[in-house]
Amino acid sequence: MSELEKKFKEFEKRSAEADLGGGVERIEKQHEGGKKTARERLSDLLDPGTFVEIDKLVTHRCAQFGMEKTKIPSDGVITGYGKIDGRLVYVFAQDFTTFGGTLSRANADKIVKLQKMALKMGAPLLGLNDSGGARIQEGVQSLAGYADIFQLNVKASGVIPQISAIMGPCAGGAVYSPALTDFIMMVRDTSYMFVTGPDVIKTVTHEEVTKEDLGGAMAHNSKSGVAHLMAEDDVQAMMLLRDLLSFIPSNNMEEAPVVPTMDPLDRESELLQNLIPADPNKPYDIKELITEVVDEKNFLEIQPHYAQNIVIGFARFNGRSVGIVANQPAHLAGVLDIDSSVKGARFVRFCDAFNIPIVTFVDVPGFLPGMLQEFGGIIKHGAKLLYAFAEATVPKITVITRKAYGGAYDVMASKHIGADVNYAFPTAEIAVMGADGAINILYRNKIKTNEDREKAIKEYKDTFANPYKAAELGYVDEIILPKDTRLKLIQALDMTKTKSDGNPPKKHGNIPL
Ligand code: HXC
Repeated sequence: MSELEKKFKEFEKRSAEADLGGGVERIEKQHEGGKKTARERLSDLLDPGTFVEIDKLVTHRCAQFGMEKTKIPSDGVITGYGKIDGRLVYVFAQDFTTFGGTLSRANADKIVKLQKMALKMGAPLLGLNDSGGARIQEGVQSLAGYADIFQLNVKASGVIPQISAIMGPCAGGAVYSPALTDFIMMVRDTSYMFVTGPDVIKTVTHEEVTKEDLGGAMAHNSKSGVAHLMAEDDVQAMMLLRDLLSFIPSNNMEEAPVVPTMDPLDRESELLQNLIPADPNKPYDIKELITEVVDEKNFLEIQPHYAQNIVIGFARFNGRSVGIVANQPAHLAGVLDIDSSVKGARFVRFCDAFNIPIVTFVDVPGFLPGMLQEFGGIIKHGAKLLYAFAEATVPKITVITRKAYGGAYDVMASKHIGADVNYAFPTAEIAVMGADGAINILYRNKIKTNEDREKAIKEYKDTFANPYKAAELGYVDEIILPKDTRLKLIQALDMTKTKSDGNPPKKHGNIPL
C-alpha cells in the first residue's frame, strides 16, 4: 500500500468508525425500541444525497471516570446541513447509541457551531432530540454547554425557524432548548419530556405516575400544551417536519415558498351555504369550513389535541402560506379561555415574526366565566391574544361567521386592532353580549311576563343579532356569502400582498407573560 493509500485508508477507517456510532449492539437495541438511529433519521428527513456532515470526527475531552479510554467520533450528536424540498436547513440529531446521546462540552460546541451557521446563513435549524441529558462525567461543562445552546436559541428566536423533534428521552434542564424553539413534535410511545421524572415526583409529592402519562407524546400534545405535533413513528415524524417547513420561510426577511395550485381561485362551495346552523346555539365544526376554503383542502393543524376551542394551523390560498386562527363552536361553544388564548397568541406571534399572513375565523360567545379562569389569570392570558393580534403587522384578514361577542369580538382580529379586511357572513351576530344576558341587565326589574321577555329578546336580536350595525359603521368591510369565502379571502390576501406596516422602534414590548 502506498503512503498515499495509507492516508486515505486512515481517513476511511475513522469515518466508518463515526458512522457506526455506539456500535452494532447498541444500534440493534435502538431498533428494538422502535427507534431509528440518528443517521437513519437524517436520511429520512433530508432530500436524498444532500446531507453534509460537519465535525464528524469530534471527540469529547473528558478525562474523568475513565472516559479518556472511550472516545467515539461524533461524540453522540450528528450535525450538518442539507436540503428539504430543495431549501437549505441545518440539523442536529442526537445519537442515543453513543454515550446515550448525552451532552458533553464537545458535543454542545458542535450544536452551538451549527446554531451560529444557521443564524448567519438565515436557514431553519432542526433538532432531533434523543438523549440522556447532561453527560454526568462532564459536570458543569455540560451545564455550560446547555446554557450556550439556550442563549443561541433565544438569539435566533424570530430570526430563523427553530423546530424540535423529541424522539427519545428529553429530561431535566435539557427540555429547555426545545421549549425555546418554535415547534415541538413528539413521537408516540418512544419519546418523553419532563423536568423531573416519576421517581423524583414520587419522593417529593408522593404522586405516582408513569413516564408515558407524565411526559409522553399525548400528555404534552393534549394536557400541557408543550408539544405542537405528534407522529406515530420516526418515519412519519420526519415527513411531518418536511410538511411543516413547507409552510414556513427560511428566515424573518423572506416569505414562505409559494406552492402553485390547481384549485380554482373562485371555487364556490354550496356545502358552506348550509354549514352554519340557523339556530345560534347549535354547534358546527369550523374545521369543515377551513378545509373547504383552502387550497386542495390541505390544512396542517397545529396542537390539534390541546385547547380544542381554538383551532390553529397552516394552509395556503392561491399557493401562498397563511396561518389560520379560528374559534371552534364544536368545542366549548368556541369560548376563549386561558389555554386557548395562550395557544392562539403564540401562533399569531410566530406568523407575524415570519411574514405569514393571518386569516381569522370568528365564532366566539365571549370569555369563559368561572373562578378557575379568573384565579388562573384569564385577564393576563386573554391579554396575550389581544396583544399578539394588535402587535402583528402581517396582513390580517378576518371572517365573522356567527357570534362575535364582547371583548372577544375586539380580541379576535377586529378592525379596531388593525385587521386589514373584515368580512362577515349574513349569519354574524356582533354585540356586547347574547340576548338573554343583555335583557336580564337592561330590564332587570321591568319584565313581568314571558311575553314581555320574548318581545325584549326579539327587539335586541333584531338590533344586534346581525352584522349590519357593524357594516354601517365600517367595522365590517363587506358582508359575504359563505359560498364565496375562498374567492374573497384570496382577493383580500392578494390586495394586502404589498402591506407595509410597523410598530414604533423599541427594545421589545412587554407582552403580559
Ligand atoms: C452519562 C449516560 C447518561 C448521562 C445515559 N447514559 N444517561 N451517560 N450521562 N446522563 C449512558 C448509559 O450509561 C448507557 O451507556 C447509555 O447512555 C444508554 O443508557 P441506558 O441507561 O442503557 O439506556 P435506557 O435503559 O434506554 O435508559 C435511558 C435513560 C437512562 C432513561 C435516559 O439512561 C437515564 O435515566 N439516564 C440518566 C438521565 C439523567 O438523569 N440525566 C440527567 C438529567 S438532568 P452504555 O455505555 O452502557 O451504553 C440534565 C440537566 C440538564 O440533563 C441541565 C441543563 C440546564
